[in-house]
Amino acid sequence: MPGRKFFVGGNWKMNGDKKSLGALIETLNKAALDPNTEVVCGAPPIYIDFARQKLNAKIGVSAQNCYKVSKGAFTAEISPAMIKDCGASWVILGHSERRHVFGETDELIGQKVAHALSEGLEVIGCVGETLDEREKGVTEKVVFEQTKAIADNVKDWSKVVIAYEPVWAIGTGKTATPEQAQEIHEKLRSWMKKHISADVASNTRIIYGGSVTAGNCKEIAGKADVDGFLVGGASLKPEFVNIINARK
Ligand code: 13P
Repeated sequence: MPGRKFFVGGNWKMNGDKKSLGALIETLNKAALDPNTEVVCGAPPIYIDFARQKLNAKIGVSAQNCYKVSKGAFTAEISPAMIKDCGASWVILGHSERRHVFGETDELIGQKVAHALSEGLEVIGCVGETLDEREKGVTEKVVFEQTKAIADNVKDWSKVVIAYEPVWAIGTGKTATPEQAQEIHEKLRSWMKKHISADVASNTRIIYGGSVTAGNCKEIAGKADVDGFLVGGASLKPEFVNIINARK
């Protein structure tokens, strides 16, 4: 809370076209956004340039993934250098869809984090347990292991935001309760304190993702260890403005 600027990321995933994203961007540009919130939009790779050109400069642009090296024979991959060349300054890494649909491992995600940071991008590193893992009682183990794989590759924590996104809450309409989100965020912060440092624990933003809407954002945003959101579906709608303004 104190010292941690509220952070709201929109993850557009593989959605939209120039027409619909252009209209969304116009809505965001015209809206009265809380100046105390850092806003970043995660565009599909082919629209990063478009989003950066159209969005107001105060709204950041993020890629949704990148590869672990700067160039080469890696068909269809994009590099941090290319993301920066298109004017974006963030990348989302370790999203659950990358982990579970495309089989990305902790090791690969760690390598991507190291390379993206070394190239000067800021990173939204995602962690979160599946429903099966939650029911087996291994949520903390899973989330800590995923966080460690990211943390082992970070030197400058001012360039990193951690997104806790329980997989069972993503795109399902089943949001974690504010208490469930707070519980894991608090545990993640304690983990950081023990394994990284007290400073990193108290200064790093830990944001929540999973079926966040205009209707539930204020209550979750009221929790002490929730420093913002990573929003999927609702980030494509005008209600994204209300989520950005959750603490207003
Ligand atoms: P939804 O908000 O659509 O559940 O998606 C969350 C998410 O995966 C953000 O990265």
